[in-house]
Amino acid sequence: MAQTQTGENGEVLLRLHNVCMDFGRVRALANVALEIRRGEIHSIIGPNGAGKTVLLNCISGLYHPQEGDVLLKGTRINHLNPHRRAQLGIARTFQKIELFKGMTVLDNIRLGRHLHLKSGIMSGALYVGKTAREEIQQRAFIEEQIIELLEIAHIRNRVVGMLPYGLQKRVELGRALALQPELILLDEPLAGLNLEEVEDMARFILDINEEE
Ligand SMILES: Nc1ncnc2c1ncn2[C@@H]1O[C@H](COP(=O)(O)OP(=O)(O)O)[C@@H](O)[C@H]1O
Ligand SMILES: [Mg+2]
Repeated sequence: MAQTQTGENGEVLLRLHNVCMDFGRVRALANVALEIRRGEIHSIIGPNGAGKTVLLNCISGLYHPQEGDVLLKGTRINHLNPHRRAQLGIARTFQKIELFKGMTVLDNIRLGRHLHLKSGIMSGALYVGKTAREEIQQRAFIEEQIIELLEIAHIRNRVVGMLPYGLQKRVELGRALALQPELILLDEPLAGLNLEEVEDMARFILDINEEE
């Protein structure tokens, strides 16, 4: 497990202690421990089948480890489902891109946030009043910031499924950012990208970490 450090003694956001996950006889995670502070960027490296995705799934709530603790800012979150963890500030991308391919870039970014934070589209549609308007403005502002940061203004109204793979990866990152997460889990963020796209993605990840 390698780690690049950029935070300086920030608050501990995530702590894993003695995490074990088995699938039948296959032990995917054995006594995993790690500590991630605000402002840090960590990389988990290992060959195919090493357990990287399982580890991210245990953090995002898709899987529940049989043993050990997953702590977010000191609170044990083992029992919480992915929705709840998203609400608490954990966002992620997937190894196999999971976007709404028939929808536009902007709608994917919007809906990503909506699906995680609200109970459904209708609750958003019926949401009225001054605070609601303010929240909508605030959200639009966040969307614009994301689009600018990831340099996807030129494709904002394009249908995602028609975009090249490298841009789809960027949109997926944008969707994760729309949650305004405290912690972002990126599963294979560089896989399948060409050299230029790798450099761009690395720059975006650094920029995001700077932005807070
Ligand atoms: N849902 C599952 N059911 C059974 N075995 C699984 C499941 N998910 C992962 N595994 C197994 O756990 C191990 C780690 O897989 P994974 O985390 O996907 O590896 P990678 O490091 O390539 O992301 C592999 O042996 C894999 O077959
Ligand atoms: Mg994987």
